[in-house]
Amino acid sequence: MNIKKKTFEIIENTAKKFPAINRMLEKEYDKLLADIEKSAKPYKNTESYASIPEMGISKEEILKKMTEFQQKEEDIWKKGFVSGAVYHGDNEHIDFLNKVLALNSQSNPLHSDIWPSVAKYEAEIVSMTGNMMHADAVNEKDEVCGTVSSGGTESIMLAMKTYRDWARDKKGIKKPEMVVPVTAHAAFDKASQYFGIKMRHVDVDSNYAAKVKDVKKAVNKNTIVIVGSAPTFPHGIIDPIEEMSEIARKRKISFHTDACLGGFVLPWAEKLGYEVPLFDFRLPGVTSISADTHKYGYAAKGTSVILYRNTQLRHYQFYTTSDWPGGLYFSPTFAGSRPGALSAACWATLISVGEKGYLDATRQIMETAEKIKKGIAEIPELQILGNPLWVISFASADIDIYKILDAMTHRGWSLNGLHKPSAVHIAITLRHTQEGVAGRFVKDLKDAVAEVKAQPKTKGGMAPIYGLAASVPFRGAVDDLLKRYLDILYKIK
Ligand SMILES: Cc1ncc(COP(=O)(O)O)c(C=O)c1O
Repeated sequence: MNIKKKTFEIIENTAKKFPAINRMLEKEYDKLLADIEKSAKPYKNTESYASIPEMGISKEEILKKMTEFQQKEEDIWKKGFVSGAVYHGDNEHIDFLNKVLALNSQSNPLHSDIWPSVAKYEAEIVSMTGNMMHADAVNEKDEVCGTVSSGGTESIMLAMKTYRDWARDKKGIKKPEMVVPVTAHAAFDKASQYFGIKMRHVDVDSNYAAKVKDVKKAVNKNTIVIVGSAPTFPHGIIDPIEEMSEIARKRKISFHTDACLGGFVLPWAEKLGYEVPLFDFRLPGVTSISADTHKYGYAAKGTSVILYRNTQLRHYQFYTTSDWPGGLYFSPTFAGSRPGALSAACWATLISVGEKGYLDATRQIMETAEKIKKGIAEIPELQILGNPLWVISFASADIDIYKILDAMTHRGWSLNGLHKPSAVHIAITLRHTQEGVAGRFVKDLKDAVAEVKAQPKTKGGMAPIYGLAASVPFRGAVDDLLKRYLDILYKIK
């Protein structure tokens, strides 16, 4: 435990010993949670089922109810008010995916003898993604390979587990550590917690890219992997992966590029002539890459690809057992049974969109991002962080950015709040390339800034929660608040 963390804990525990502070905190939480519960549970007053109903409900009734929910929920993302989340969303594309999902609804890749078609789809998804990441650049000893997983988090966690086991076996590392920029996705921290890998965070520079010098300093004999993002979730910045992966290669350490967000954008952006630094297998130090098909790959939610530079590494990901009474058992990823329909839909998406479709989509996204960046730059109270391509974060030196976030929420937008530093971001998707959306965003943002400047004292929304998270003694309490939020999601009434 570092000294800073220890100090925070002491302050927090001291605060807890004072009943008055505690009561104040509790009251504050209860107010926050009541607000949150209202917006997280809009269906509180509809029919709910705490137990399986004695007699089944008619299928027509179920479909009618679900259609109602769906219709209430789809406007916000269809009309382009949401950051990220739905990356394609055209009706024709959705109808096609739904047909593919229906055709394959029973299939399960765990039983590849029954559904060999899914094995074919997955092998080809991995190959297509690998070739996009320049599998052709590796030397003849290596061969890019990988697996399909359920999403970015699983791809990242699989890679971290692979490196832990590989380093234990090949290097005898018993106290593994990972060197990860603070801006890398939370999934790396999750992997550190789940797999007992010590997290060594490194800071970012004034452009929000990992500090190479700090990476060098953080590496030691227990380092199993260095991580870089292409780009990062918070600020859309591509880390200096060339230099970082060289440090790894020279020290014979693995290097993971997290291209969950950019894997299906950057290769096309490069072909379109945008300045994209190298992040893929053309860099000899890069040993694995995660790339999410369910984001800018435009597949249905529930697939991602984890790629390795060679099959030896991939073997450390696979699970096999030959002494289980249930028979010989093996599975490539964390799950046992898996939805083959999602892999089928992913395969169908990749081959139906095709290279031309991805190039067109990327061109539209980049052009829309340019309009939005230009619009934000015209607002003197806001500053864009770093020099992003299409995931755009902005902060303010003059006004509370979380109040802007709330004012945008009141105007129908669903943007992402960031902290350290306090900021907001929008990840541009095909939904934002629709006619009028970029203009509406800029106009609403200008109005939101004017509103917050006129009434800086408004209460409620996300501002107080981020305020609590930023205050040293109460930060642990925010973790508690988040757990209670998850409890709320699982409440029936
Ligand atoms: C850079 C990056 N890595 C990993 C992830 C995790 O992906 P998922 O939500 O699919 O688990 C995300 C999600 O936005 C991301 O932006």
